[in-house]
Amino acid sequence: MLNTIRSAIARKTLAGVLVLGSALSACAAQAATYTMYRDPNCGCCLAWAEHMEQGDRHEVKTVDHPDMASVKAERGVPDDLRSCHTMIADGYVIEGHVPAADVERLLAERPEGVTGLAVAGMPMGSPGMEHGDHRQPFEVIAFGPKGTSVFASHD
Ligand code: CU
Ligand code: CU
Repeated sequence: MLNTIRSAIARKTLAGVLVLGSALSACAAQAATYTMYRDPNCGCCLAWAEHMEQGDRHEVKTVDHPDMASVKAERGVPDDLRSCHTMIADGYVIEGHVPAADVERLLAERPEGVTGLAVAGMPMGSPGMEHGDHRQPFEVIAFGPKGTSVFASHD
């Protein structure tokens, strides 16, 4: 009798541990951290990282890198799409001041043949580049091994 109770308790405890374990891993998946590489002398990257954290609710880990050109080359960012920072989000490469909503859409849709998104240069008015009312229209470009396409346009 006592043994039965003991094993019942043991089973319950085990079940409790399993439930807790899966709850923890679900939590970890939601809070996946993005890693942003940046030139330590640049400030707009930090403003953009803040925008990402608010919009996409992911923590952005910042890594200062002395040679951003090599980071971009390694990740396959086309030369003409380069900007200041480069972020890795769930296996995708996010180059420059891409709006958080576009990153969210990329991760939800996962279009075929897309390595990442880029906003070339530093358009005024893009996230992290706000300067009063000054706004330049800009495009978010999807890039991959087979080329590029327009992912989103912002006026
Ligand atoms: Cu920038
Ligand atoms: Cu920057």
